[in-house]
Amino acid sequence: MSDTPVDASKRTWLIASSCAGAVGAGFAAVPFVSSFQPSEKAKAAGAAVEVDISALKPGEKVTVEWRGKPVWILKRTPEQLESLKKTEAQLADPNSDRKTYPTPEYAKNQYRSIKPEVFVGVGICSHLGCSPSDKLQPGPQPSLPDDWQGGFLCPCHGSTFDVAGRVFKNKPAPDNLEVPPHMYLSDNRLLIGEDKTTQA
Ligand code: FES
Repeated sequence: MSDTPVDASKRTWLIASSCAGAVGAGFAAVPFVSSFQPSEKAKAAGAAVEVDISALKPGEKVTVEWRGKPVWILKRTPEQLESLKKTEAQLADPNSDRKTYPTPEYAKNQYRSIKPEVFVGVGICSHLGCSPSDKLQPGPQPSLPDDWQGGFLCPCHGSTFDVAGRVFKNKPAPDNLEVPPHMYLSDNRLLIGEDKTTQA
């Protein structure tokens, strides 16, 4: 017996609903690298999460959970940093001026980060909350423009972001990816969820 064909409207709903659950299911499946242990403090709900990024190599990304959200830490290569100059003219909010997810002052720069090479961003699309996929490889590929410089693609409705989480123009997502409060405790130890402005 053949499967009943899914009509177009039903299919759209299925895609949308599977997308809505993608954030919870998607990042939970990402194994924690052994050297990336959250601190004791982080075990309490909502606490800041301490992450050791000394093992993170250029071009690698890890995901940690903070307040139930996937937080990406991407160590960008020199080429990826260079790509941020090329995307500027195509972005909706290149300087992170929009206020829905205010970018912390220390990340209001072209890299949207404290250290240029380390991007810390919440991996949740500002459209309907799906988690965008890594499309870090530059060049033409399905669903992306031929001059793609590397970044992230939200599979739900096609929003695209550069490697600083800045959204491209004319996409459903209205805002750049959120940069959470964060700070460095030492050269390779990041604290996500707290910064100098949120500390008591
Ligand atoms: S949730 Fe619709 S484009 Fe990302």
